[in-house]
Amino acid sequence: MAHESSFLVLVHIFILLWHFGTYKVSSKPKVPCYFIFGDSLVDNGNNNELYSKWKANYRPYGVDFPKGDTGRFCNGRTTADIIGQFLGFNDFIPPYATATDEEISTGVNYASAGCGIREETGSHNGGRFSLDMQLVNHKAVISRLSRLQQNISTLKECMYLVNIGSNDFVNNYFLPDHYNTSRLYSLKKYTEVLMKQYSKQLRTLYKMGARKVALFALTQIGCTPLATSKFGTDGKPCVKEINKAAMLFNHKFKPLVEKLNTDNEDALFTFINITSILYPQGDRAMRTPPCCKLDGEWACKAGSIPCPFRIFHIYYDALHPSEISNIAMATRAYHAIHPADAYPYDIYHLVRVHN
Ligand SMILES: *[C@@H]1O[C@H](CO)[C@@H](O)[C@H](O)[C@H]1NC(C)=O
Ligand SMILES: *[C@@H]1O[C@H](CO)[C@@H](O)[C@H](O)[C@H]1NC(C)=O
Ligand SMILES: *[C@@H]1O[C@H](CO)[C@@H](O)[C@H](O)[C@H]1NC(C)=O
Repeated sequence: MAHESSFLVLVHIFILLWHFGTYKVSSKPKVPCYFIFGDSLVDNGNNNELYSKWKANYRPYGVDFPKGDTGRFCNGRTTADIIGQFLGFNDFIPPYATATDEEISTGVNYASAGCGIREETGSHNGGRFSLDMQLVNHKAVISRLSRLQQNISTLKECMYLVNIGSNDFVNNYFLPDHYNTSRLYSLKKYTEVLMKQYSKQLRTLYKMGARKVALFALTQIGCTPLATSKFGTDGKPCVKEINKAAMLFNHKFKPLVEKLNTDNEDALFTFINITSILYPQGDRAMRTPPCCKLDGEWACKAGSIPCPFRIFHIYYDALHPSEISNIAMATRAYHAIHPADAYPYDIYHLVRVHN
């Protein structure tokens, strides 16, 4: 298992070097702007000023990030950051919370740790912007853009990334002490209700001008150090019930994008199959302990010294992938290696389709 994982890391480093060789030289981004929606997997500091436990604006978060501890739940860049670099953006897309008028014309990141598709998801730990709220914020940004006399029709040419849904399971359905969803719905029914709401939210995004939209399906959320330590695994590497939930949900992405694309003639929704990317061996996947020392269930302990060899850890804290994992996911989301990685387009092709 150990050599499988180090081999994988090496492969990813080569892909990364090759990518930077290819893409760093381009001066003009492939799309005029890039908008990001989602949870802690792509949050870049929107929660910093909220009254909330969903925060990462302290060391050792950001130890490998040029601007330090910005609020990213990682040692370095998120998948959204890396994809932005592949798209040719020289600067990171700013968080909604602090984005200036000058910055918003190239895009905004609305993502918020702890949030979900459902409004109540994550509320037990305090403030966060739910997906509905993020859409409201996007509407406000569009108004700001029109006030600044920007051409709103270019919004159709922009890239949109949405990475959400994990918290609706791990910080809602599987927390029966705080949430009633597991009493209201069977798991199967819950994934249906959730997907229905998600589909509605994505239609709202489309109505606000989004056409090229990449949806990240869920990782095997039953394999995180938090899940395995909290629920136990019966000797297996992962928590079966939680992975089953993710799988039930993930299998609805293909019909979702097909429906969105046929109902809306010029829509280009696509989904990224993260399961196949982060855990190529399925349940026998690499399982490494988190890199940082924990404070409580999942977060890094403030001021602690992180592990020295971060490229050998899948997870940075007990929930969030380390930068090396994000590089692997972003690289294959951008340039699919396996046919199962992206459907119907990887991001490289998505931004080149003419709509
Ligand atoms: C606005 O952008 C669209 C699409 O890029 C373009 O076709 C149109 O000519 C632009 N309008 C103005 C007034 O610049
Ligand atoms: C379930 O919880 C939500 C808030 O989290 C509440 O609005 C709703 O009324 C509850 N439903 C039932 C049937 O208890
Ligand atoms: C993701 O990819 C794996 C193979 O790598 C495949 O077994 C699985 O069905 C795919 N998931 C979806 C939702 O397409």
